[in-house]
Amino acid sequence: MTQIKTLIQNDGDVAMHINPKALTNCLPQIDYHNGELYIEQVAVKDIATQYGTPCYVYSRSAMVDAYRQYTKALAEVDHQVCYAVKANSNLAVLSTLAKEGAGFDIVSIGELARVLAAGGDAKKVVYSGVGKTNQDIEYALEKGVGCFNVESVAELSTINDVAKKLDKLANISLRVNPNVDAKTHPYISTGLKDNKFGITHEQAVDTYKTAQQLSHLNIVGIDCHIGSQLTQTEPFVAALDKLIELIDELTQNGITLKHIDLGGGLGVQYIDEQVDSIAELIALIVPKVKQLGLQLMLEPGRSIVANAGVLLTKVDVLKPSEHKNFAIVDAAMNDLIRPALYQAEMAMIPTKLNPATLSEENAVANKSWDIVGAVCETGDFLAKNRLLNLQKGDVLAMTGAGAYGFTMSSNYNTRTRAAEVMIQGSEHKVVRKRECIEQLFANEVVW
Ligand code: LLP
Repeated sequence: MTQIKTLIQNDGDVAMHINPKALTNCLPQIDYHNGELYIEQVAVKDIATQYGTPCYVYSRSAMVDAYRQYTKALAEVDHQVCYAVKANSNLAVLSTLAKEGAGFDIVSIGELARVLAAGGDAKKVVYSGVGKTNQDIEYALEKGVGCFNVESVAELSTINDVAKKLDKLANISLRVNPNVDAKTHPYISTGLKDNKFGITHEQAVDTYKTAQQLSHLNIVGIDCHIGSQLTQTEPFVAALDKLIELIDELTQNGITLKHIDLGGGLGVQYIDEQVDSIAELIALIVPKVKQLGLQLMLEPGRSIVANAGVLLTKVDVLKPSEHKNFAIVDAAMNDLIRPALYQAEMAMIPTKLNPATLSEENAVANKSWDIVGAVCETGDFLAKNRLLNLQKGDVLAMTGAGAYGFTMSSNYNTRTRAAEVMIQGSEHKVVRKRECIEQLFANEVVW
């Protein structure tokens, strides 16, 4: 099998060559035909020409397929997949998943409003997050969210007070922090006792007892979410085992639940990472959950949308020197912050294959480029030390960009945010227009 990634000594630095064909063989709905990169049946160069760059492009069938991998693997147990909206909250993405029957994991009322605007069912929404305000809770109760994933003792009484005021009963689950190492980047590890999330394992049973005393709360579940971009299944199983211990203790105390929610977190292959599959994860957890007789809920985000999307960006300026070669592209850290924020390595592949980029032997003749944006920060890079054959005007595709790409984008340096396009078969549609300059300060005044 052809290697996806090869590290090559180049001018004193180690450069990375990514074989674009070997990579796309591992990506759903992304492939080269006659040397042109396609998503489903559309040549991405046509997207770049028609809608401009930078531009996020999503494959609808890739996300539907990933979602169905979950539901198929979960078929033998009562389940609800609640897609984590923060990964990609475009209305077209949400409506695609809502039509598939997805529920949603939200962390703000803004996300709830998006879900409802996209046709999602409020009853299938779980509301996570450590800092819900009275107003947030009121809005969520009025819209009829399915369950609050409660993250602190204080939050319990706030929800109870608001529910009482509205004369409603609020469904709650306690997010337990199981103190399990997710073995991922520290910024996206959430299930350790040093992290701000959830109620400690030790406090959990007492907190449930407190909840039981509160008149306007209805205890329905238990949940956890230990981190994101987990490549292995072990930490999930360890967390599940911790939750099972608690469920046993709760049963002994006469507290019964309807569901167990294991959060999201399964990782994806960005370049050549070995990631346990959705089916492998589910196969390990389903038998244990079946024994509990509870509904199984999951909150995946990245594993549904990451590899369904690319970010298209054009090479604007080539700036080679004796020491370092910079390719300045029209996307920047404001469009995709993952490399700058988490030192994430994502693939950057040509949209038109060139013999010079195809094999590592030929690639050695190429320069090693840092692909950077035009933002005024040294931290503004998308990829470093990549062996590529580049010309000004080339369009590159950053793969794995469907999750935590657009949703984390900003207007830093007063840059307009990129357009988003969705492809289905041979059809394509702009699902979010590129921002225009006037929008950037439309809410401001000169004073
Ligand atoms: N549920 C909860 C409560 C979460 O906090 C998250 C993600 C998820 C579900 C979905 O996790 P996923 O399946 O997507 O791993 N911006 C970072 C990722 C932050 C994840 C935050 N929480 C990144 O770009 O890597």
